[in-house]
Amino acid sequence: MKIKLNINGTNYESDVEPRMLLVDFIRDVAGLKGTHVGCETGSCGSCMVLLDGMPVKSCLMLAVQAEGKKIITVEGLSGKNGLNKVQKALSERKALQCGFCAAGFSIIGTWILDNEENVDYQKVKEDIAGVVCRCSGYDQIIKTITEVAKNE
Ligand code: FES
Ligand code: FES
Repeated sequence: MKIKLNINGTNYESDVEPRMLLVDFIRDVAGLKGTHVGCETGSCGSCMVLLDGMPVKSCLMLAVQAEGKKIITVEGLSGKNGLNKVQKALSERKALQCGFCAAGFSIIGTWILDNEENVDYQKVKEDIAGVVCRCSGYDQIIKTITEVAKNE
């Protein structure tokens, strides 16, 4: 079936199988490889994107379900000045190692910045619980997002 998805402000139109996952559309049709596939079962969060401003795991949705919605991937978080505050802080503070989980933490971190109030370490810890990092400790990630949010 023909579908048109708006990703990072650009429309991508394609003839796809109705069963195509949103993450596969993002990576294979739109060619945006920053959104990763770790588990395809909703466990790791490496496929997280913003859908109309809400964080969702794009391996748990069909591409067709995202029609008419605004999708933001990790590539879409950066602006004219480069990385956004969360991405920059995660990078500068070396909060990540291999970076496979970077899309997930960047997306959820940005959502926290834009939506949460009275952010503290515990709140960030709970909010990021859906994203798995298999090589860094979570402490530096949580501290970094907390600090950026507090300075907003
Ligand atoms: S690939 Fe989607 S949650 Fe792991
Ligand atoms: S830095 Fe390697 S999975 Fe998180």
